[in-house]
Amino acid sequence: MVKIFIGSDHGGYNLKEKIKEVFTPLGYEFEDLGTNSTESCDYPIFAEKVAKKVIETGNNGILVCGTGIGMSIAANKFSGIRASHCTDTFSARMTKEHNNSNILCLGERITGQDLALDIVKVWLETPFSNGERHLKRLELVKNFENNN
Ligand code: RB5
Repeated sequence: MVKIFIGSDHGGYNLKEKIKEVFTPLGYEFEDLGTNSTESCDYPIFAEKVAKKVIETGNNGILVCGTGIGMSIAANKFSGIRASHCTDTFSARMTKEHNNSNILCLGERITGQDLALDIVKVWLETPFSNGERHLKRLELVKNFENNN
């Protein structure tokens, strides 16, 4: 079974708990790396936990904060992470097909719960297109990790 690592800060905690309900019906295993309440905490701590598991295992991850932006900034600092902040299902599909996104970032304070759950489903179920032009572009992005 494919495993998804999920994490949030306090601003994304409630949406994280809702997202966890969709994994089993869709056939995904998951591991929740925290946070475990709405008590104030620091989003980079959870971005790091999820990013490291994604790199280590080759599985995908989901990160939720208030806007989704802090999580995406933090996760994208890790070599090998392609974190995508999505607020619509079209972007969720394209970022898997074209960018081979391995972390989805969502903002509980900006994206309504039902839309967020649709975004999650589309992102989980869309495969990378494996197209030559996209592989080439991802390679160009990967080079930035080594040279900057
Ligand atoms: C927490 O108040 C908030 O700053 C955080 O959840 C996130 O939106 C940061 O980008």
